[in-house]
Amino acid sequence: MNRLLVIGAKGMLGRDLVPELLSSFPGDEVLGWDIDEIDIRKEHETVAKIKRTRPAIVINLAGHTDVDGCELNEQEAFAVNADGMRHIAMGVRQCGAKAIYLSTDYVFDGKKGAPYVEEDMPNPLNIYGRSKWKGEQYAMELAGDGLVIRTQWLYGRHGKNFVTAILRQANEKKVLSVVNDQIGAPTYTVDLSRAIFLLIQNRASGIFHVTNNDFCSWYEFGQTILRLSGAKEVEVLPISSRELNRKAARPSYSVLSTKKFSRETGIELRPWTEALKDFLSEFKGLEQS
Ligand SMILES: NC(=O)c1ccc[n+]([C@@H]2O[C@H](COP(=O)([O-])OP(=O)(O)OC[C@H]3O[C@@H](n4cnc5c(N)ncnc54)[C@H](OP(=O)(O)O)[C@@H]3O)[C@@H](O)[C@H]2O)c1
Repeated sequence: MNRLLVIGAKGMLGRDLVPELLSSFPGDEVLGWDIDEIDIRKEHETVAKIKRTRPAIVINLAGHTDVDGCELNEQEAFAVNADGMRHIAMGVRQCGAKAIYLSTDYVFDGKKGAPYVEEDMPNPLNIYGRSKWKGEQYAMELAGDGLVIRTQWLYGRHGKNFVTAILRQANEKKVLSVVNDQIGAPTYTVDLSRAIFLLIQNRASGIFHVTNNDFCSWYEFGQTILRLSGAKEVEVLPISSRELNRKAARPSYSVLSTKKFSRETGIELRPWTEALKDFLSEFKGLEQS
């Protein structure tokens, strides 16, 4: 029996990943920890708790994930996203376990003009991206046999995200403004959880890009959410990132090539529109129950 430890288990992805691992590895033990069980900013506590628990695999989803907030608190961003991974890697190495780190398209500057492959050189535009890139390096260099999974534009049932924000705003306003100059792939946490399971099952290591298939702008994503959820009377206006004027700069084109993932596992994640349909029907069911 293997013991799998998920850190950041109460976050949006963690709350779908833990049930996925429990059902897909029925003979194994799956532990879900979050800030109440372990504070990965603390070196001694993190190393000691991992050593004592002796997991075979530690999956680090914990993060300071407020991208604009990271611009205001660089120290905290690096403490969680980078040093947190360093502390986990130290614990993992001491008990011969494998480390898996969830990272982001925001490690790239978006200037390539074609989907990013795993070998492309990161050049983050913001502090969140810089701190996550540092975390990737710790996962790869300190842990041994590390696996880094880069993903993007996540939404799911258990957290604040773009889809739930659009649905909420559609109840309050007749016109929404959404940026049309950032391109990426919306990714459903349920589909990503299945992909993480497949990579673990294959004993994959190195860097992998995993997203739902196809891509769009946030504006197209917003329009599709409203169309599929039947809110046809709400209008979406395209605006530029400059007009939105957020604290953190974001890449304009950060589509991730998932070919390496497909070669490894033999599958492609479904197109984002199909995943979104499933999410919306389930989400509506949850709202009505
Ligand atoms: N969301 C996206 O679009 C996206 C895109 C690409 C990559 N990722 C990466 O994917 C991972 C999961 O994302 P997510 O959206 O599920 O994130 P999330 O919902 O913000 O969950 C992260 C979890 O980590 C916990 N945490 C924060 N600081 C911690 C600490 N010092 N020690 C232990 N736990 C701590 C958080 O607790 P609190 O809530 O109490 O702070 C939260 O439960 C993250 O590493 C993120 O960088 C996310």
